[in-house]
Amino acid sequence: MPVFASARDLGAFLAPTRTHGRRVALVPTMGNLHAGHFSLVALARKHADIVVASVFVNPTQFGPKDDFARYPRTPEADAAGLAAHGCDALFMPAVDEMYPFGAADGVRVHVPGFDGVLEDRVRPGHFDGVATVVSKLFNLVRPDVAVFGRKDYQQLLVIRRLAVDLAYPIEIVDAPTAREPSGLAMSSRNQYLDAGQREGAAFIHDTLRRMQAEVHKGAVSHAAIEAEAEARLRDKGFEPDYAAIRRADDLGLPAAGQSRALIALIAARLGSTRLIDNLLLDE
Ligand code: PAF
Repeated sequence: MPVFASARDLGAFLAPTRTHGRRVALVPTMGNLHAGHFSLVALARKHADIVVASVFVNPTQFGPKDDFARYPRTPEADAAGLAAHGCDALFMPAVDEMYPFGAADGVRVHVPGFDGVLEDRVRPGHFDGVATVVSKLFNLVRPDVAVFGRKDYQQLLVIRRLAVDLAYPIEIVDAPTAREPSGLAMSSRNQYLDAGQREGAAFIHDTLRRMQAEVHKGAVSHAAIEAEAEARLRDKGFEPDYAAIRRADDLGLPAAGQSRALIALIAARLGSTRLIDNLLLDE
């Protein structure tokens, strides 16, 4: 599998593909790949003839207190894993390839509609960094399809809106969250957890399922369900940022009594590790 640091070289590799009308899929990642990422590659393969993955730890989506410096970087293992899972090419650019004017001084893309909502409240500016780098990846790779995991649900909605509003001719495909047998959502950040924390972290998924059951029972208000979920998480040693029930299509507040087309989302710290997960309540 060829690995490209330059978008120009990747473009030359993809040129014959496009001339022959073959579809190109992009799987954008920040590396430190695990089975969840490889499931995105497998899904991409179903939608396209050529699958390109990107590995780029994007500095503009990390806040000053985030884990940019210590974010796990494993380029050789990532390339080997992608090759073993049938990926056709890897784009692994350096920061100056993606940000020719420097990461701090480039154009920023802001997708409205989520200001102050859930992740944006806790990580202001994060989605501007995501929208900016994803726009750049779309422009450089020019895929027909791009695949994103549902674990980062708010990110998925931001990218869908970005693609529609900037008229990218790209189909956005979302992939179900890959989970450990315990229910813990697979994430590169899980490797910050020690063995005990890793076991305990599955409680987030357990809590989401409980929120789902409570909504389906229809007995109490959403606010009460959210408060109970946060209390349960605190009891187990988590520091929750939120446990929320929202409309699945736009993360708005549900109408009173609404029980369909909803999603439960949790973000919580366990020790120094911040974990997020969600569950579509109709599933
Ligand atoms: O989900 C991620 O890994 C990142 O946010 C993405 C989409 C690759 C942008 O850097």
